[in-house]
Amino acid sequence: MRHLLSTRDLDRETAIGILDVAEDMADVSSREVKKLPTLRGKTVVNLFFEDSTRTRISFEAAAKRLSADVINFSAKGSSVSKGESLKDTAQTLAAIGADAVVVRHSASGAPHTLASAGWIDAGILNAGDGTHEHPTQALLDAFTMRRRLHGSASRGKGLDGVHVVIVGDILHSRVARSDVWLLNTLGAHVTLIAPPTLLPVDTGQWPCEIGYDLDAAIDADPDVVMMLRIQAERMNAAFFPNTREYSRRWGLDASRLDRLRSDTMVMHPGPMVRGLEISAAAADSARSLVRDQVASGVSVRMAALYLLLSGDREVD
Ligand code: NCD
Repeated sequence: MRHLLSTRDLDRETAIGILDVAEDMADVSSREVKKLPTLRGKTVVNLFFEDSTRTRISFEAAAKRLSADVINFSAKGSSVSKGESLKDTAQTLAAIGADAVVVRHSASGAPHTLASAGWIDAGILNAGDGTHEHPTQALLDAFTMRRRLHGSASRGKGLDGVHVVIVGDILHSRVARSDVWLLNTLGAHVTLIAPPTLLPVDTGQWPCEIGYDLDAAIDADPDVVMMLRIQAERMNAAFFPNTREYSRRWGLDASRLDRLRSDTMVMHPGPMVRGLEISAAAADSARSLVRDQVASGVSVRMAALYLLLSGDREVD
């Protein structure tokens, strides 16, 4: 694997292969000394043009657990805020000898440009590009579900027949886009639930079902309910009447939580806005896998870095 840019182009075998390596990495993370010498001498740059908590720190933890040198570069406080272009930034990273660049950017397609423009010969990992994709988030979501379902017998397995409902601001969500493709490739059945204004126009071409009614989706007895944040920072218009109305119709409140099976998985990529798309009761309930998702993020990102950097970089 040369780059990790999207889940749309991952085939089932490759996806399961990444999840299986992540299982090995999770074993390492549960040891007292959580470190492998595998990427000693490699340089990983975290290039973040947008805010991030979980994704940035888990990529940093992942690279350090594999003994890589890590450089954290955030656009705020760098020459990017003085107008330096992506090309100049990439050439700077090439000059310092970056082997992998983890990039988060507000422009959909920025990681693809870095991977294909010839400015830098490093493995590119997409850590979220605009409203396009967030492949390691989808992989950690799948990893979390698979572990919950199969425990230590997860290796080699997909998510066949698992029913996942993803609820909320699909329009602005790169997480939903990456999840839909990966979960489908792994055999899961995905339903998206959102107000019509927060659904993209092209969902007809996505491998999933669409609905507007969260109560009906809950009555269909899903295995996973994944809540998404309202991405107000990407909105330039009113997409719903007000937050109270949104919570009432599309929020996972205590009464909807009560109607879920006791083993239904409640997930959220974070950051959560408690009281809006998810109640505190749901976020902190025994069904919630939010913290497992964060822990899985380290294992999955270790696997991705390992697969990109330890193999033969000349082979695609
Ligand atoms: C998401 C993102 O940045 O796309 N968060 C994450 O990476 N865990 C979702 C969000 O910001 O709501």
